[in-house]
Amino acid sequence: MTRIEASRPLRTPRWAAKAATTFSVAPVFHTARVPLIQAVVGDPPATYLELLDLGRARKQSLLDLTAFLKNETAYFTAPASTRFHLCVEGGLVQHSVNVATVLLGMREALAPDIDAESCVIAGLFHDLGKAGTPGNAYYLPTNDRQDRSVRFVVNPELVHMDVATRSLFLLAQHVPLSDEEAQAIRYHDGQYIAENRSVAHRECRLTRLLQYADNWAAGTLE
Ligand SMILES: [Fe+2]
Ligand SMILES: [Fe+2]
Repeated sequence: MTRIEASRPLRTPRWAAKAATTFSVAPVFHTARVPLIQAVVGDPPATYLELLDLGRARKQSLLDLTAFLKNETAYFTAPASTRFHLCVEGGLVQHSVNVATVLLGMREALAPDIDAESCVIAGLFHDLGKAGTPGNAYYLPTNDRQDRSVRFVVNPELVHMDVATRSLFLLAQHVPLSDEEAQAIRYHDGQYIAENRSVAHRECRLTRLLQYADNWAAGTLE
């Protein structure tokens, strides 16, 4: 069992305190600048498993995927970025839980007819590509003396593929996806990425919700 430094939870914002009474899982608030409390990584965290519990038709595929991720990839230990949001060990799964939780809250408020299982899958696995491939992590720790803020680098051994495409490539091998889910994952960075121009004005509702949930989690919670 590995223990790492995690971040001190921030005071819960007022909107989130209200939302926590309706969300099935409360968002996790962190600041990367105050490493204080200890967190266990390497296994799926409780918040991840609670979200997985919302799985219905594809529950078994999701459990099988979880076992694969735990045993063969760095998904549960990887950081969420090289030097930006949650660039700490275990940051990727924390970010994924945050995105899924915000996404479920947005669904409840704006589009309750969207399948909750779709929100769980899109939220938890939109950045699955950051796990790398079996036995080959996407992020490697680094000690950059020029720029101390850089904590990780992208593994140069991996075949080049953008993260969203790698997420879809990995996920589709384990979980059957609808076309809306596939679009949401592939285009979750929205128009921040030049290559995503083709989806402009053609986004499904799930894609729009995921784009904003990801932006909200990374930009305001983490
Ligand atoms: Fe992403
Ligand atoms: Fe993300």
